[in-house]
Amino acid sequence: MTAPQLTFSAGLKSKLPDVGTTIFTTMSQMAQQYNALNLSQGFPAFDPPAFLTERLVHHLKHSTNQYAPMAGVPALREALSEKAVMLYGAAYNPETEITITSGATEALFCAISSVVGIGDEVIVIEPAYDSYAPAIRLCGGIPVYLTLESPDFCMDWEQLARLISPKTRLIIINTPNNPTGLVWEKSDLDRLAALVRGTGIFVISDEVYEHIVFDGAHFSVMMHEELAPRAFVIGSFGKTFHITGWKVGYCYAPEGLTCEFRKVHQFLTFSVSVTAQFALADILLREKAHYLGLSAFYEHKRNLFNDCLKQTRFRFTPAKGTFFQTVSFEGLTDETDRELVERLTRETQVAAIPVSAFYRHPKGGKMIRFCFAKDDDTLLAAGERLCKIQW
Ligand SMILES: Cc1ncc(COP(=O)(O)O)c(C=O)c1O
Repeated sequence: MTAPQLTFSAGLKSKLPDVGTTIFTTMSQMAQQYNALNLSQGFPAFDPPAFLTERLVHHLKHSTNQYAPMAGVPALREALSEKAVMLYGAAYNPETEITITSGATEALFCAISSVVGIGDEVIVIEPAYDSYAPAIRLCGGIPVYLTLESPDFCMDWEQLARLISPKTRLIIINTPNNPTGLVWEKSDLDRLAALVRGTGIFVISDEVYEHIVFDGAHFSVMMHEELAPRAFVIGSFGKTFHITGWKVGYCYAPEGLTCEFRKVHQFLTFSVSVTAQFALADILLREKAHYLGLSAFYEHKRNLFNDCLKQTRFRFTPAKGTFFQTVSFEGLTDETDRELVERLTRETQVAAIPVSAFYRHPKGGKMIRFCFAKDDDTLLAAGERLCKIQW
């Protein structure tokens, strides 16, 4: 008997026909293939703190291993509520205004799905994290792009004002920003607030790098009186505790928004690893020195790597936050950023990400992004190799 032909997918109309394998996967695979130092994908190369893994093992053995409550383990939501008061002076009710999600990615999807319907416009500021636009499109929404230009990525407020229309439902911001390393100040949030005043526009603030800010402080949307009532503020334990693989994130939002958010979350994942939540609940307030010291930890790495970059022909402005450094190769080669990162991986054995990957249409900008969440030796070795690039 012959096997049936698997042709049924021929009739499938893709909702995301233009979406393929992400550049992050491609570059990590190339890094492996060429035995390159992988400064491409944005994950920390460190073990989680022992105080956290010890609690994880404890709860694996001594707590329930069954479904967590849909909104998240109460103790973790309570700890997040206290943390918001402590750091941002913001009061969120853990019962009704904080939800634990499968990483920030799920929180972004739930928040977008909660408010975006067919034909609604969502303003995405690019370069942008790659999950925003597909999530908007899957909800029938239309991403409307505010394109910031390299190398400075200056916020264009006039253009943002022009892009707002009666169909605008949502604006997504990301501070500290991946990939630019820029950090919004209170005055930026004031300008955003002025633009959405009197409208029904919601805001998603992606703050997964909230604890990695240099030369200043993170100003969370939850601190902003006018924006917080219309905002989903999203974070991730992955970035904070070097546990991106655990996929635990969270969303703070006023009760009305959280109610809709949870309707999506309930049927998307229902709940998130119970053991991880118990462990995080135990340490979140007790071990605050960890995340209060995270900026200093990464600032050292940024400075170490930037000292190496100064010996190269790349030009850059030091990142103000995140664990990413973008650099310009304007005037050094005719290659596109994609061609350059591929050549660097093959010949120099350092993998990076082309900044064009964060734009809807690959742009001609001559910038690439390095992740410096690596141990010092790796950063020094990468720096040494980058000095030897043949331009
Ligand atoms: C800006 C931004 N938002 C969201 C995420 C996703 O976070 P998580 O891994 O918790 O889903 C990332 C991960 O790199 C990110 O850089």
